[in-house]
Amino acid sequence: MKRAKISIIGAGNVGATSAHWAAAKELGDVVLVDIPQIDGVPQGKALDLSEAAPIEDYDARITGATSYDATKDSDVVIITAGLARKPGMSRDDLLLRNTEIVKSVSQQVAAASPNSVLVVVSNPLDAMVYVAHKASGFPAHRVVGMAGVLDTARYRSFIAAELDVSVEDVQALLMGGHGDDMVPLPRYTSVGGIPLPELMAADKIEAIVKRTRSGGAEIVNLLKTGSAYYAPSAAAVQMTEAIIRDKKRVLPCAAYCDGEYGVGGYFVGVPVKLGTRGVEKVIEVKLTADERKLFEASVQHVKDLIAAVKL
Ligand code: APR
Repeated sequence: MKRAKISIIGAGNVGATSAHWAAAKELGDVVLVDIPQIDGVPQGKALDLSEAAPIEDYDARITGATSYDATKDSDVVIITAGLARKPGMSRDDLLLRNTEIVKSVSQQVAAASPNSVLVVVSNPLDAMVYVAHKASGFPAHRVVGMAGVLDTARYRSFIAAELDVSVEDVQALLMGGHGDDMVPLPRYTSVGGIPLPELMAADKIEAIVKRTRSGGAEIVNLLKTGSAYYAPSAAAVQMTEAIIRDKKRVLPCAAYCDGEYGVGGYFVGVPVKLGTRGVEKVIEVKLTADERKLFEASVQHVKDLIAAVKL
């Protein structure tokens, strides 16, 4: 069987850690790409990861490069290129710099791997996934943004810690934009099948939602020199696995809504079915009037961001 090929653009914290998770899961061969100015860095990280393989027992060819030739005919391309947040910076502050970067990266990726699925991680995510779609020229279902899986993982981890139960048993769905703009849905959160509101007081749930909303900033403030990368990369690789192994996982992702949820032509956080073709379906769930209001505010923020993007 032909091995899948995963290229990761940006060999920084999120990119290199994505390579680590992807190799450890034996999802396929991995190519790490960064800019020519830091030639040697992607190659060095790739070599280091290759040398860990005999210890951790994974078979994956891991290479580094500063040109897109090495990415040719990838099945999935994870885009992490860009600047990361520093304390005091919002994701939106990154907008203009990262638009240029993600635009040029997406064009080069599309030329080298015209049939790939793009998993976008660069922030501000809801705008960058739109930029990647426009710049690559790919059909919208082959471009998807990583936000909901990460926000949901943060939320699930906080719930599990609070209830002192396994994270495996906490199921949740969040919608809307990344972080500050997310739309919590405690009604759709369950612990071993039991709805969360039966296990936790409303004020506790509210506190966890608040912490999840600023989960990225909490880590930026602790690290001081960069932003989160273990959970973001794990989330991007879970999506990559769903695509490569055609798992048809139901995950919250930034996906193109063409009428779903009343959204015409934007990428927003919604539950989707993720498989080989990328986003195979946007799943529509019923929202209460309050949830819909929050969702619409989130969509409006995405629209404002896109309006500020010059492509
Ligand atoms: N092409 C390829 N790589 C690029 C480009 C480009 N045009 N521009 C920048 N990069 C690389 C940088 O050289 C750096 O190695 O992207 C990498 C980014 O790595 P970090 O600075 O460590 O940032 P990281 O924490 O990985 O975050 C990357 O993901 O979560 C988001 O907000 C985060 O937008 C940020 C992105």
